Amino acid sequence: MAVFCKTMVDGLLLTLSVTLLWWGADGHGNGLGMREVPGRATVNLGQDRDIWRPLIHKTVNLSEISSIKSSFQFRTYDPEGVIFYGDTKNGEDWFVLSLRDGIPLMQINKEDMLVSVVGGPKLNDGKWHTLEVSNYGKFVILEVDGSGGLVVGMQSKQSQEVISGKLRLALGGILTNKEMIIQFGPQMDGCVREGNWLNLSKPWESEVDDLWPCYENIQPGSYFPGTGFAIFNTSVFPVEDDNEVKIELWGDFSQMDGTILSIELPGRERIFALVANNNTKEVTVFGDENIPLNSTFNRLVLTFGAAFLRILHEENESKTTELSVHPLSHPVQLTTWKDGHLAIGGLLGEGGDNIASNFLTGCLKKIQVQGKDLDLDLAVKKMSVSSHSCPA
Ligand SMILES: *[C@@H]1O[C@H](CO)[C@@H](O)[C@H](O)[C@H]1NC(C)=O
Ligand SMILES: *[C@@H]1O[C@H](CO)[C@@H](O)[C@H](O)[C@H]1NC(C)=O
Ligand SMILES: *[C@@H]1O[C@H](CO)[C@@H](O)[C@H](O)[C@H]1NC(C)=O
Ligand SMILES: *[C@@H]1O[C@H](CO)[C@@H](O)[C@H](O)[C@H]1NC(C)=O
Ligand SMILES: *[C@@H]1O[C@H](CO)[C@@H](O)[C@H](O)[C@H]1NC(C)=O
Ligand SMILES: *[C@@H]1O[C@H](CO)[C@@H](O)[C@H](O)[C@H]1NC(C)=O
Repeated sequence: MAVFCKTMVDGLLLTLSVTLLWWGADGHGNGLGMREVPGRATVNLGQDRDIWRPLIHKTVNLSEISSIKSSFQFRTYDPEGVIFYGDTKNGEDWFVLSLRDGIPLMQINKEDMLVSVVGGPKLNDGKWHTLEVSNYGKFVILEVDGSGGLVVGMQSKQSQEVISGKLRLALGGILTNKEMIIQFGPQMDGCVREGNWLNLSKPWESEVDDLWPCYENIQPGSYFPGTGFAIFNTSVFPVEDDNEVKIELWGDFSQMDGTILSIELPGRERIFALVANNNTKEVTVFGDENIPLNSTFNRLVLTFGAAFLRILHEENESKTTELSVHPLSHPVQLTTWKDGHLAIGGLLGEGGDNIASNFLTGCLKKIQVQGKDLDLDLAVKKMSVSSHSCPA
């Protein structure tokens, strides 16, 4: 009986927490499959969706607008992506604020003009910044942390003020075509909070069921919550003349659980995988044979040659261990490298029956392939991964 009652209580708690999730922290549903998110809510723009699609949006009548100013706080380690979009005339006139190389980029399309302006401080330092976008007559002004940022002046010969119709606002994506002057990747791993959007009290509409959290403190890295992974075509990592493939991973491996990395090459029966076990505190290299390592290291370098796999793991600068050249009985066909796939945070393909294949839970502080930083936003497929930040 006691057990039965506890189950009922658990069931009730579960129902309550699911309900809370469904409605969002302090949002309301509107009964149309859209969910409302308060204008000042803290919103993580990194959530999975079609890459150009906004996370949240709202439409208002231009006649309702009494303020020409939007202000909000923004935090990211991501150098590139969309922050904020607005349009009128059903997308004919539009405004996009994004980051490129960490620096604000505004692009504006108004009547017959397409304008871009780049400048201001690098914002991708993981700190909260206050941004303010306002529109005074012919000028659009972006201020960062209260000091004069960017000013764009535009005057059209066919100018006529639009005072009726709709205005659409969106965060984390755009609603018009992608004919920009400066191209950029739209995905943004960043958070927005304390927004005041044209002084409108109307909430945002969201089509996603639950919003990802914004952690109070973050650090650079890629965070895997245990529910997804990122897949790359290995063709994007060319093999150089030395005929080697080098993959370097940084992080606290003793705090990881699940598949860190896997590689699938055509014609090769066994896949390669690297799996952390949080219970045994071991990281196992699954390849030709299985090699368990104590997970006390912070950096791991895997070098694949035509007939060897070299594993170097480093606890700190004075304690580096290299597992001497490990001969492979079934050499990696680097000629097939260009037709394979590499996954971070999960297991690929067949042949992994003997590998416990749960998704990775943990933070990789840095990932390099062939000596270059890996940007998970460039994956051919990415699911439930924060590409540029980990909770701290
Ligand atoms: C917006 O304008 C339309 C007509 O253009 C009107 O039907 C609607 O009630 C207006 N909405 C608000 C909130 O004023
Ligand atoms: C903003 O809206 C509030 C009420 O919602 C109003 O009191 C205030 O005057 C408005 N501010 C501006 C600048 O329009
Ligand atoms: C990735 O590889 C698949 C085949 O495995 C191919 O269909 C796809 O076009 C490739 N994508 C990119 C972006 O190279
Ligand atoms: C690892 O195990 C510890 C102790 O059981 C637990 O607190 C922690 O959440 C686990 N971490 C992961 C990533 O599974
Ligand atoms: C892991 O460390 C323990 C001692 O802490 C040692 O006995 C064991 O041999 C180590 N295992 C490996 C695979 O290095
Ligand atoms: C490096 O790690 C070893 C083994 O854990 C430890 O004895 C040594 O003090 C560490 N050195 C530094 C500089 O932290």
